[in-house]
Amino acid sequence: MADLKWTPDGQKIFKKLTDAIPEAMREAIKPKLLEMLAARAKDKPVTNKVITAMIKQDLPEPQRSALMAALGIDKKKEGLPDEPETPKIEWSGKSEVMFEIMLGEVPEAMRGVFRGKLSGVILEKCKGTPATEDHVTEVVNQIVPDPFKSNILKKFKEIGDFDINIIDEIINRHGTSDESLMYILHDTQDAIGYLPIEAISAISNKCEIKLSAIHSMVTFYKAFKLDKPGKHHIKICKGTACHLNDTGRIAEVVESKCKCSDITVEKTLCLGCCDCSPAFEIDGKIYKGDEAKSVIDTL
Ligand code: FES
Repeated sequence: MADLKWTPDGQKIFKKLTDAIPEAMREAIKPKLLEMLAARAKDKPVTNKVITAMIKQDLPEPQRSALMAALGIDKKKEGLPDEPETPKIEWSGKSEVMFEIMLGEVPEAMRGVFRGKLSGVILEKCKGTPATEDHVTEVVNQIVPDPFKSNILKKFKEIGDFDINIIDEIINRHGTSDESLMYILHDTQDAIGYLPIEAISAISNKCEIKLSAIHSMVTFYKAFKLDKPGKHHIKICKGTACHLNDTGRIAEVVESKCKCSDITVEKTLCLGCCDCSPAFEIDGKIYKGDEAKSVIDTL
């Protein structure tokens, strides 16, 4: 297809189109799209209009709706029926979290379309009963291509132990505006203990705020924890007095001893006992001076 001719607008929209396709599938899908365009253009340059016609008439659903949404093409203006409203599903167990994880693999610009289509497939499987974890897994196995399928199934196995209804309650309390996001994230962390990716993804989908925007926020503020805290919590003081009294060595020892164990190690600001430095805290109890040095050896 190297001999395809393009108009500037055609080239621009084709780039936008291929950018909207998930990276892992892009190279496999691109030759097929070029083939369809060549058949439509019939030796003439590929224009914006030719690309829109190819999407409208040659692509199957849900790819057609998803790519139209990604390119900002108005379905009504193109004479196509609007998307039906997302059907309401009754969820059970962790099925809703799993559904949000599955949607998390879809590029953000297409997520709205896929939410509707995949909800329809789940509803068909449930036949009037609440959706279960098995229904969602079945849909993933049947219609999601690799490598997304393997990613999603791996994430299902790692799902944290929390109730997705907590997030609905929190969002109902604060609303879905951009200004509510901070409150929602803090309350979610208070309820779960940290911010697992499936909770962040559910907040993104329910509030219609980009996942990337939420991710920048939670990684910017130190108050947010993305990793599940360990059973035990060690805070090592990195204040000036402790730093001068060897907490660097203590941190090194603690980190090497606690690797792979169920212990969260965190460096913190002054613990308020600088005159007896070095100092650190284990599960709320502060150890300082010589005691700190000897405790560290017995860890
Ligand atoms: S600097 Fe470590 S306790 Fe103050």
